[in-house]
Amino acid sequence: MKTQPRNNQIMINKIKQLAKEKNAIILAHNYQPPEIQEVADLCGDSLELSILASKTPADIIIFCGVHFMAETAYILSPDKTVLLPNPDAGCPMADMVDPVSLVKKKEALGNIPVITYVNSSAAVKAVSDICCTSANVIRVTNSIKENEILMTPDRNLAQYAAANTSKKIHLWEGFCPFHNNLTPQDVTEAKAIHPKALFIAHPECPPEILELADSIQSTSGMIRFAGESDKDQFILGTEIGLIYPISKAHPNKKFYPASGKMYCIDMKKITLENVLDSLEKMTGKIMVPEEIRKAALGSVQKMIDLK
Ligand code: 13P
Ligand code: SF4
Repeated sequence: MKTQPRNNQIMINKIKQLAKEKNAIILAHNYQPPEIQEVADLCGDSLELSILASKTPADIIIFCGVHFMAETAYILSPDKTVLLPNPDAGCPMADMVDPVSLVKKKEALGNIPVITYVNSSAAVKAVSDICCTSANVIRVTNSIKENEILMTPDRNLAQYAAANTSKKIHLWEGFCPFHNNLTPQDVTEAKAIHPKALFIAHPECPPEILELADSIQSTSGMIRFAGESDKDQFILGTEIGLIYPISKAHPNKKFYPASGKMYCIDMKKITLENVLDSLEKMTGKIMVPEEIRKAALGSVQKMIDLK
């Protein structure tokens, strides 16, 4: 157990050396385990990682995150090799919508525009009008000229967008099992233990949680908000992996999880071992059939161009 950090450092050095030799870039989501964030060239939220993936001059992108994130990188950069070190790392919310059911619902609603959260498959993005992330959902919603919209798959994100725009938004009954499980009682208890702390929530939390929040932010938005705030204690209504990068960014401030239950198993499936293995053997290649990729690119690119 005691030798773990040293072993990690040896692995990290090995991975960095190999990545340099192969002209590979390592991207990691903010929820990734600490040692993965340490080996990464760049960390960020979904929007930042999509933009970084579209701009990198590297030949290989090692995506330390979940499947839809690596798939989005491939949609934007089909000429690059995109590797997901553990192909089992998925997102349960992304699996709550499929393209056939989505097209059916869109038609039933009179073909209104569809905004799809990036936490979705390429096939779902391909039948959508535009994508959004937690960082830009309000901007994307306001960019649609029609007043009625279908938003998928996250019903909580859709309710947040409806509450903050003048649009009528039809919900899809998807959710993140970890954010959706946070209860007002969890938040009240955390506030009682840390009475001086501000509560920052991710928009994947249910509306009754967002009502209790001092600020609603994407994962990187939380890191920025904490830096700009004159307060020095924060309760985080998001996956507990964020505690590591936010504490590293603001070492003089204190961060507490709103609930220890908010642990995304899939986000922890990437290990230093599988990153090294994937880079050595070029395993975990993510690809999308060209016809689907081109259609999905339309909705991802529209979102990026809104920036
Ligand atoms: P962010 O885009 O805020 O990083 O969130 C991604 C995600 O999967 C949240 O559960
Ligand atoms: Fe998906 Fe939730 Fe995990 Fe984010 S935290 S990747 S939405 S399951």
